[in-house]
Formats: sequence, C-alpha cells, structure tokens
Amino acid sequence: MLYQTHVRVHLNNIRSNIENIRKAIGPERKILIAVKADGYGHGAVEVSKMAEKIGVDWLGVATVPEAIELRLAGVNLPILKFSPCFPEEMTEAVNHRLAIAVCETNNVLLLNEAARSCNRVTEVHLKIETGMGRIGVPIDQAKELAGRIIKDCPFLRLTGAMTHLPVSDEASKTFTQRQIDRFKKAVKEIEQTHGFKFELVHCANSGGILGHPESWLDMVRPGIMLYGYYPSDETPQTIVLAPGLSFKTRVSFIKKVSAGCSIGYGRTWVAPEDSYIATFPAGYADGFNRLFSNSGRVLINGVSYPVVGRVCMDQSMCNLGSNTDVKVGDEVVLIGWSGNQNISAYEWAEKLGTITYEVTCQISKRVRRFYDDY
Ligand SMILES: Cc1ncc(COP(=O)(O)O)c(C=O)c1O
Repeated sequence: MLYQTHVRVHLNNIRSNIENIRKAIGPERKILIAVKADGYGHGAVEVSKMAEKIGVDWLGVATVPEAIELRLAGVNLPILKFSPCFPEEMTEAVNHRLAIAVCETNNVLLLNEAARSCNRVTEVHLKIETGMGRIGVPIDQAKELAGRIIKDCPFLRLTGAMTHLPVSDEASKTFTQRQIDRFKKAVKEIEQTHGFKFELVHCANSGGILGHPESWLDMVRPGIMLYGYYPSDETPQTIVLAPGLSFKTRVSFIKKVSAGCSIGYGRTWVAPEDSYIATFPAGYADGFNRLFSNSGRVLINGVSYPVVGRVCMDQSMCNLGSNTDVKVGDEVVLIGWSGNQNISAYEWAEKLGTITYEVTCQISKRVRRFYDDY
C-alpha cells in the first residue's frame, strides 16, 4: 500500500443516503446530486458513476472542467452547470452536452451563438434571484429574459427554472417560504405569458429537502446530505444519513521524550512528563488543518490522543502518554471510527469554526481515495 494517508469513500453509505432521499420525496420527482468540487471531496467520477447506476436523474457541477472530467470518464447523465459560462467556456460546454444556468441577456445571446456554431441545441435553466443574492435574473425581469430565450435563441432550449435557498437549513421558515412562493408565482407568470411549460422547476438544496417539502417541486438538488451530513443542527433529521468518508493514516514513528523536551516547529508544546510521542504522515498539505496544532485529536486502536506541537505540512504528532502499547504501523483515524470511538466531520467543523462542506472539500488531492463497494 503506497498511500498510507488515504480516504475511504463509503459509496454504500452515499447510495443509501440517496435512496433515503428518494423514499422521502417520492418516485414522481427527479433527483439532481451536486458533484461539484470533486463530489465535495469524495470523488465526482466515482460518485457519479454509482449515481448513474442507481437511477439518479441529474448531476450538478460548478465549472466546465468538472463536467468535462465526468464526460471523459464516460458519465452520460444530464449535467447542469449551476452558473452561466464565461464566453470562452461556451463552446466546450456545448460540445460536452452541459445544461447551463443562465440569468443575463447578453450572456444568453452569446451562448446561443456558441451553440449555433457547434450546431447543437443546448439546454438552459433560468436562474431566478429570489433571495440568495449571488447570481440570478432579478425576479421582475425573469419573464422578459425567458421571452428572449424562447423567441430569439433557436439554439437554446429553455427547459428549467431554478432558484437557490440561503437559509433553508435554519429553524425559522419565513424567508424560505416567501422565496418559494415568489419563485412559484414567477414561474407561473412566465409560463402563462409565453404559453409554454418548464419541464423542471427546482430549488431544494439539502435544507429545502429536510425542512421544506413545499420546495421539492419537480426536482431536488441535494449536496451535503448525500455525503452524509445534515446542513445544520437546525434542520429536521427526518432522513437517515450515514457518512460518506473516513480519513486515515498510520503511525510512522514513535519515540520516548523526557519531561521538558519540545515538539515541532516553534517549540509550542513541551512534554510535562516523560512521554511517548507518535508521528503520523498527515499534515496541512493533506487537509489535516494547521489549526489542529495543540488542539486536535486522533484515534488509535479505539483510544483518543491529543495532537501535540504544530501540524507540519506532511506530518503531525500526538501524545501517547507515559505508557503505551501503540506500535509503528498502527492505524490512525483522523475522521471516522476506531473501536467504539468516532471523530466526525461535525467535530472537525466545530473545532475549525467552519462547516462540514469545507471539511470534506479541504482533504487535498494528494490523499488517495479508495472506494467501498456499494
Ligand atoms: C445551486 C445549488 N444547488 C444545490 C446545492 C446543494 O446544496 P447543499 O449541499 O446544501 O445540499 C448547491 C450547493 O451549494 C448549489 O449551489
């Protein structure tokens, strides 16, 4: 095994998370899974291939290269790019059969020309701004933009309408409910004015799926929950989720140090007593965050040990105490289970002052992913 520091991706858990979402929303709705950012760090290609086999309907990406990677790997599912393309990305996007979120007239006209020059009709979803404040056509201009696409863009096919819900994971439901109402009203007006029907109207991220059944509409767009985490501790936990990955390494070196001996860069930790110190080959370049210096913990053989000294780029140290039976080669769990002990991505998120999304995304490319059967 050349990859001592590695991630095990539990495709079986990701599969059951998707199936649990499917059960909750019912068979009549479609599911788009967000596989942007390399599947939130889990591996977009493998997650997408599994999803294709189990009947997921759509994939969602943030960038054109993310979609190209999937196409080159042989993934055939429809792929939606959640944001518009820059002009120089358009040809590649069209040729790789992306559906593209659009929200601005000039950009739409350019995309139509790119699609014309490729002689390929391209699917677009109208992204309507209802409260996210990021991208989207202002709601009072949505009808007009839809009209331009329908009438003036023969190489674009307007099939979807979408919006995004920034506080669907919060206990208070008012803002999200208002967004859903305004979105549905705008969609209805567009359909009535232009005498056509969107095939896919969608807005539900994980928070929407868990907390707002009225947001499910034609299709849901889960991200974090398919990787096993509730988007916040305020969302109802009505759908059972299991973690999508474990992050592990092994003890590479053990030494006994005398009281007063310092450990690591900056000499920020000094042994208060004679102690065994284990080194393991994971550091901030792997995504073992430097903020864990003198504050993180790891699990070895079902026991929790504190990180001592500064996390280095490629290695870190933990204190095994004054007596130990830990040996070089023993497994070190950074995220996951060891015996009956667990370190979760939630724990990392809390310690690092961030969210589970960033925790799994920040496990770096150097860390090889291995995939469980599903
Ligand atoms: C447009 C869009 N839809 C869906 C999602 C999935 O969100 P979540 O991971 O909170 O389920 C995202 C993620 O940020 C997104 O940008």
